[in-house]
Amino acid sequence: MYSEKVIDHFSNPRNVGEIEDPSGVGTVGNAKCGDIMRMYLDIDDNGIIREAKFKTFGCGAAIATSSMATELVKGKTVQEALKVTNKAVMEALDGLPPVKVHCSLLAEEAIHAALWDYAKKNGIVIEGLKEPVDDIEESAEYDAL
Ligand code: FES
Repeated sequence: MYSEKVIDHFSNPRNVGEIEDPSGVGTVGNAKCGDIMRMYLDIDDNGIIREAKFKTFGCGAAIATSSMATELVKGKTVQEALKVTNKAVMEALDGLPPVKVHCSLLAEEAIHAALWDYAKKNGIVIEGLKEPVDDIEESAEYDAL
């Protein structure tokens, strides 16, 4: 039911961890299942994403999609990173079962939340980026990560 790529990224997730002093960090949660994801981005002066890391308290599909999402945004400009939608992540993973599509949204939302934080810190507006609706405050659950 899962593609080989999903199993690979779930078994060997890329870019797990934190970035110290990140350019942007965003935490989102999925109200449906209660899973949480935090994304860290390191963005250079030219607006290129140099490093992306994540931590998730989530299911296997959430781990695989965030692993792939971090791989896809690395080396991209902020504008290009906005095009890394959950659809693009799913395509790169050769698909997800329909019941797991919402998990891939967590990865997209986490990237957006981290970009929003970056824009806010730098006083810039990223065209096409909307304020994350699902940003979670530091919570007891997150402390478990
Ligand atoms: Fe919660 Fe997949 S079931 S993110």
